[in-house]
Amino acid sequence: MVPYCLLHWKRCVLTSFNGRQRLGKRLFNSVKQGNEQVARSSKVQCSNALHHEKSYQADQGSLVLHGNWSKETRATVLQDMLVFNDFITESEEECIMGEIGPYLKRMRYEFDHWDDAIHGFRETERPQWNPENARVLDRVRRLAFPVGTAQLRHVHVLDLAGDGVIKPHVDSRRFCGSVIAGLSLLSDAVMRLVSCAEPERRLDALLGRRSLYVMRNSARYDYTHEILSASLSTFAERRVPRGRRVSVICRNEPTAADDDGDGPAPGGPAAS
Ligand code: OGA
Ligand code: MN
Repeated sequence: MVPYCLLHWKRCVLTSFNGRQRLGKRLFNSVKQGNEQVARSSKVQCSNALHHEKSYQADQGSLVLHGNWSKETRATVLQDMLVFNDFITESEEECIMGEIGPYLKRMRYEFDHWDDAIHGFRETERPQWNPENARVLDRVRRLAFPVGTAQLRHVHVLDLAGDGVIKPHVDSRRFCGSVIAGLSLLSDAVMRLVSCAEPERRLDALLGRRSLYVMRNSARYDYTHEILSASLSTFAERRVPRGRRVSVICRNEPTAADDDGDGPAPGGPAAS
């Protein structure tokens, strides 16, 4: 039986995607690499990379901006899309896979209807982790979420097959708050953000194996995000070989202000 929370989650992704077919189709035809700008400015310190243990520095070398960015939009997106390379060690990765791998193995990859947001995936949600992995997830949560943020207890585990793809979508405001924090396991991948208002503006993020990304506020609401398919997987004009990738994603609770009923994104049609 599929647990309720899982269905709930899928709905979250799909509701926000279905209304954005137009965007999705256009973006899929768009692989032009215009006006490339590697984000080189000084490193961003995550504002919540607090007083705990070591302080983490986001790696702006993992981001490339394409298209015309104003000073403001550029500064904002670089505050709101952060990549931390080597956030976990090889043995932490192994330990997480040791806990979720056997469970995932029993599921089949789903290749759903072409209209759906994600193809070639299996997923689960996990409220409880073994102590070693729970410590790693605590590290993620402390870095990604402001103190006192109400977080979703279930951690979303998404296993994307080597030939799987996550198409452009915005996570539902109804089910998820302003911060999405994801660990990338087993493979490098490229995540693309495209402005809903000005689709020629986009940001590519190289999500290295064992990195953490934090996508928050404007990056989470004003841009679609996607994981490029193996055949389109390039970063700064270099190929990024992509195999099976498992992401482990923490999210926060939406607040009343977040839930706008999943109405239209700027420039996008209403969600169904
Ligand atoms: C999602 C999603 C990104 C990832 O599940 O909505 O966009 O890193 N996942 O797997
Ligand atoms: Mn998403």
